[in-house]
Amino acid sequence: MTNSKLAAARVAWSPAKMAEQYDDVRLKMLCYAILAPNPHNIQPWSVELSGTDAINLYVDPKRLLLMTDPFLRQIFEGQGTFLETLSIAAKEFGYEPNIQLFPERVDPPENIGKSPVAVVKLSKREIDNDSLFRQIPKRCNNRRPYKGPPLTENELNSLQNSYEAAGYPMVFITDAAIRDRVEDLMTEAMRVETYLDRTHEETVKMIRFNDNEVIASRDGFSYENMGVTGISRFFVERLSPRNKAFGGFFRETTVNSTHKQAHTAGAIGILFGPGNSRMDQVEVGRRFARAFLKAAELNLDIHPMNQILQEYDELAEVREKFSTIIQSLQPNSVLPTVDKVTGVTTAQLLFRVGRAEPTPHAPRRDLMDFLKS
Ligand SMILES: Cc1cc2nc3c(=O)[nH]c(=O)nc-3n(C[C@H](O)[C@H](O)[C@H](O)COP(=O)(O)O)c2cc1C
Repeated sequence: MTNSKLAAARVAWSPAKMAEQYDDVRLKMLCYAILAPNPHNIQPWSVELSGTDAINLYVDPKRLLLMTDPFLRQIFEGQGTFLETLSIAAKEFGYEPNIQLFPERVDPPENIGKSPVAVVKLSKREIDNDSLFRQIPKRCNNRRPYKGPPLTENELNSLQNSYEAAGYPMVFITDAAIRDRVEDLMTEAMRVETYLDRTHEETVKMIRFNDNEVIASRDGFSYENMGVTGISRFFVERLSPRNKAFGGFFRETTVNSTHKQAHTAGAIGILFGPGNSRMDQVEVGRRFARAFLKAAELNLDIHPMNQILQEYDELAEVREKFSTIIQSLQPNSVLPTVDKVTGVTTAQLLFRVGRAEPTPHAPRRDLMDFLKS
């Protein structure tokens, strides 16, 4: 019984099969879009089928991460990943997606979710497929330690060329000493997050400590999604259940595993945006979705590790150290501009790339749950 319910929590990863049950082609496309990467797998999307040919996308205001993502930057990046995945799927079904971002207004923080992030108009016509479509069900965030042969320049170039880069450069830190400093900072940022109760609590709320929790919520991430599988998972689930998540052992293990994740990276990537507007954040997400899918095509793994970039006050010192590092990367370039509101650079996403054993997919809620009521 548990097994079939667990399978149901992951059934979205067979999107072609899921799509068969719907006559409306927009629902078929959405079977793919909900597989987009998104912060903490909170799945912050609410969609509306409008008229006969449009999909309106909204932020789901009940699904925010206000402690670790106080300006909702990552939530809006997650709108971008959804839109890009939807757009790739639309082409596969023979529709040209015309995406209009923020057609009404950009909602102020107190009104998030009131007006659409995007209206996607779909026109049936001859249109080239996007070869990344095939990677949508294959892509998976991989938090295991990375290993294997070093990444090649060709591989990194392919990731950089997977999207329209003007204004959104993807930079890889290749210098071993600089990488080491960033990897240490990733660990330091996780230490801050994990030892601060309010941010830790937010993450703990999204951890699914056993199969029953996965089945009940169909969101968040489990030990399996953190790369702990087989017999190790059996022991970890018993040593670190939910009621021990605020103890020293759990916190220290979290920091140690971040250290291992960071320091086994094949490369550290930074995706920059031209600024930090809502539009920029959505556009960053669209590009990141493409790079993530490209990685799947190349049999590479990606793991976003964004703690350093988070904007809450206690991280100010870590962010400052990071800004100093990236300013040293390309001192005269346009990269390290500083956002006037948050005081951080326009680095929008930080991630590691490498090679690892496969890891099980994260769950997804039922498609009908995403339809705006
Ligand atoms: C904007 C954004 C930020 C993310 N930040 C992190 C992160 O800091 N740490 C992490 O482990 N995963 C991060 N992720 C990956 C998500 O946790 C992952 O996409 C989600 O759990 C769903 O899993 P999937 O990508 O395998 O479908 C991020 C994803 C996005 C789109």
